Amino acid sequence: MKIEKIKLIYFSPTGSTGRILEYISEGLNAPVENIDLTRPDFTPKKEDTFGEELAVIGIPVYVGRVPALAAKRLRELKGSNTPAVLVVVYGNRAYEDVLIELSDIVSAQGFKPIAGGAFVAEHSFSSIEVPIARGRPDEFDKAKAVEFGKEVREKLLKENSILDLAAVAFPGNRPYREPFPTGRERPRPSSPDTFEEKCTKCGRCEEVCPAAAITIGSSVDTKKEDCIKCYACIKSCPTGARVMRDQWFVSHTKVLHDNLVKRREPETFL
Ligand SMILES: Cc1cc2nc3c(=O)[nH]c(=O)nc-3n(C[C@H](O)[C@H](O)[C@H](O)COP(=O)(O)O)c2cc1C
Repeated sequence: MKIEKIKLIYFSPTGSTGRILEYISEGLNAPVENIDLTRPDFTPKKEDTFGEELAVIGIPVYVGRVPALAAKRLRELKGSNTPAVLVVVYGNRAYEDVLIELSDIVSAQGFKPIAGGAFVAEHSFSSIEVPIARGRPDEFDKAKAVEFGKEVREKLLKENSILDLAAVAFPGNRPYREPFPTGRERPRPSSPDTFEEKCTKCGRCEEVCPAAAITIGSSVDTKKEDCIKCYACIKSCPTGARVMRDQWFVSHTKVLHDNLVKRREPETFL
């Protein structure tokens, strides 16, 4: 099977999942179309019903699960036995059962997972002061992603039709990991705060929020119940006016910084 076209489908609030998909597409070496599920104005177009092209579907890992908003938006897509490469991106802690969960979600939508990978990127909670997997994906991660793209391309070229392609087995378990089992403290509804004296009301935070939780009027108003804590507003604020001060996130970030010292490497499944 020759790859005529690739559709990169991603939910990527702070951009690293999108970047890893781009690297994989370099190795796949075919014309690319982007379908960005991150923004709240995402609505599937008629041409987002998928046929014989290759779909590369990427999401970040949130508390060992597929982010709920990403799952909701993926469930609006319709494949037609469309071959799919599944990519999960995580912040050097763990990706738990997320490849299996993502595979279940997209299979129910008519996609056929034929390969997958778990890649590492800088943790959304990371900062210069409290770094976690800082600088990743780096050159090594990029080379691995490009190589993975080439391997998928070779796998497809060996077969005459999608029907000949074997489904791929991913590591993980069902039922999927419970993010907050009894006894583990669950964060309260919270969101980053805005330091009014630093804020220029440029509108960037409102624009990048995947959950449409931010409204800018005479001040910046954030609906705590809707905030998904993706840190997109914090990372994109040009004046550093958005800051997460909720104690659960401040101390959890410190724990991750202290404990995630061992570098985890990308893993691929073909
Ligand atoms: C709410 C939240 C929960 C997260 N949970 C995990 C996790 O369980 N394991 C992990 O290794 N990284 C976790 N991360 C880190 C992200 O998976 C990682 O930074 C990813 O690269 C973000 O993707 P993006 O840049 O495309 O938004 C979490 C990030 C956020 C915002």
